[in-house]
Amino acid sequence: MKGVLLAGGTGSRLRPITHTGPKQLVPVANKPVIQYAIEDLREAGISEIGVVLGNKGREAIQSFLGDGSDFGVDITYIVQGRPLGLAHAVGCAESFVDGDDFVVYLGDNMLKRGIVDVVDGFRAGEFDAGIALQEVDNPTQFGIADVDEDGRVTRLIEKPDDPPSNLALIGIYVFTPRIFDAIEAIKPSWRGELEITDAIQHLLDDGGAIDSQVVEGWWKDTGKPEDVLEANRLVLEGLEATRAGSIDADAKVEGRVDLAESSQIESGAVVRGPVSIAENTTVETGTYVGPYTAIGANSTIRNAHIENSVVVGETEITTSGRIIDSLIGRGAAIGSAEGKLPEGRRLVVGENSQLEL
Ligand code: TTP
Repeated sequence: MKGVLLAGGTGSRLRPITHTGPKQLVPVANKPVIQYAIEDLREAGISEIGVVLGNKGREAIQSFLGDGSDFGVDITYIVQGRPLGLAHAVGCAESFVDGDDFVVYLGDNMLKRGIVDVVDGFRAGEFDAGIALQEVDNPTQFGIADVDEDGRVTRLIEKPDDPPSNLALIGIYVFTPRIFDAIEAIKPSWRGELEITDAIQHLLDDGGAIDSQVVEGWWKDTGKPEDVLEANRLVLEGLEATRAGSIDADAKVEGRVDLAESSQIESGAVVRGPVSIAENTTVETGTYVGPYTAIGANSTIRNAHIENSVVVGETEITTSGRIIDSLIGRGAAIGSAEGKLPEGRRLVVGENSQLEL
């Protein structure tokens, strides 16, 4: 079985971060989101992975993943170009797949428990496809599956007014090459995209057998800033703390704090975990880093109060204001304007921005 990881798309909901880089490289707990998908595929025994790329951010993804050997997998790149829909992206992988069964993983999705159960469920029967589902509170906002008592899918409905179930399709699918005929047969939807749900529905209408697996543990689509922060929170929740870096004697460090070896927390700083601090980063005197914060490499935080935030890296934060629930792009500098009183700020800051609060 092969893997097809979709890493194209527009990423419009994550602007301005995606003006300068692909959303699949946004770090969650200091690890790019796409790396979690690669690790899940590898855990399911899948090492031949085709990564589908769009026009934007192509080089960045290729330079991060390389040939896959750093991650124990073998990567082939497939260029989709313009994002014409998930089914179009899957169609681009036909020659890479070359007649095998394959898992499709959306490159901005994350699953707490990985994909082993979904793959095993598919392998346990004679299916033409398998889909991963999760119960949601607001089924009218999702693609919803109707399934029989054996978990066989009977119907798929996109954002139904009257949902037959609360089981939403999440970004993991297992396909046989039959999906390519279905993709050929469907037409673009009202939004001009070839939809993967339409292709799967076509397969069903054509007599295909489709398995479903309800996924336990959290699932997150990191398409929006608040979702990145939520995913960051969920991963930091299970953080293993290795305080490898240096902590000055009168710095106050509480709870689980993962501090890279080359980083330091200076005296007079307060860090309250769970917090992840990547390489070459200094948390200086007078700083408070609060729970559920990840600070990327080569950053300096001075005098600031920051919590529940993701700082991508190469960042200098010297404001005396409070930064909460924020996503700060690479290379951003956040200082203080003269004479301003500190208040809480919620920010989404693009790459190389300069702010004075
Ligand atoms: P989406 O989040 O559905 O789409 P998007 O990336 O265009 O984002 P937005 O709606 O914010 O503009 O995409 C899910 C995943 O699939 C993501 O990793 C990008 C990838 N994708 C492709 O590779 N090709 C495509 O044509 C589309 C639509 C998405």
